[in-house]
Amino acid sequence: MTFDGAVAVVTGAAGGIGAAVCRALAREGATVVGLDRAWDIGDGPEQRESVDVTDEAAVDDAFARIARQHGAPGIVVNAAGITYRGPTIEASTESWDAVLATNLRGTYLCCRAAARGMLERGSGAIVNVSSQLAISPPGGRAAYVAAKQGVIGLTRTLAVEWAPAGVRVNAVAPGITRTPMIEAIERDPTASAEFAARIPLGRFAEPDEIAGPILFLASPAAAYVVGEVLVVDGGYTIP
Ligand SMILES: NC(=O)c1ccc[n+]([C@@H]2O[C@H](COP(=O)([O-])OP(=O)(O)OC[C@H]3O[C@@H](n4cnc5c(N)ncnc54)[C@H](O)[C@@H]3O)[C@@H](O)[C@H]2O)c1
Repeated sequence: MTFDGAVAVVTGAAGGIGAAVCRALAREGATVVGLDRAWDIGDGPEQRESVDVTDEAAVDDAFARIARQHGAPGIVVNAAGITYRGPTIEASTESWDAVLATNLRGTYLCCRAAARGMLERGSGAIVNVSSQLAISPPGGRAAYVAAKQGVIGLTRTLAVEWAPAGVRVNAVAPGITRTPMIEAIERDPTASAEFAARIPLGRFAEPDEIAGPILFLASPAAAYVVGEVLVVDGGYTIP
């Protein structure tokens, strides 16, 4: 699986899954540019930009700048995301708006900005990040589930629209993955044990275990895979 010569953009690149995807793509030879709204990590991609994916102008500018510097990206992974915990009845409207804006609008804006160059060139691969919760919602996090189901609908729609022009759009639906997003769960041994007990594999995923399937979908090995939602959850959604 080599990405020699490919230009890749990864959003949420300062986060656990995004950073793992950047490392894996760079290892396989891609030129990687990471986008994130905040860079407070030591490692991460060498080439990075501070971009809020909910900001249409900032997203369009970033993709135009990257295209000028490196050539239009052929691979885009949309991993920027936020979540919240708690019962829906107690959640604020602001949290609903923020989760939908980042997880769904942000994914849409980045897909659209990326596709301009891809459609012109007649090739490209986009991988969006949904969640196991979009497939088996356990209750709670309604905005997150709605946004992540939206990501699946968006992925399948864009896949149909853009496949004829050579642009493949797919998604992964990760299970619980050991990143800053789940720090609160990991700090609580009882909650951690309860969540892990529901996973047939009996443990949470490492970020590299999500990056691998993302790279597969972005690679020529997945040349005939279009509009797929690859569930990577240790078996959580089976029962
Ligand atoms: N960790 C899990 O258990 C899990 C499970 C399923 C799906 N996911 C999804 O995987 C993706 C990556 O999450 P992660 O686990 O690496 O979490 P993370 O919190 O480590 O990383 C998310 C990154 O997105 C960035 N981000 C948030 N809002 C942004 C914005 N408006 N503009 C630009 N960047 C923004 C954050 O700064 C952060 O670096 C997310 O979409 C998340 O919903 C995570």
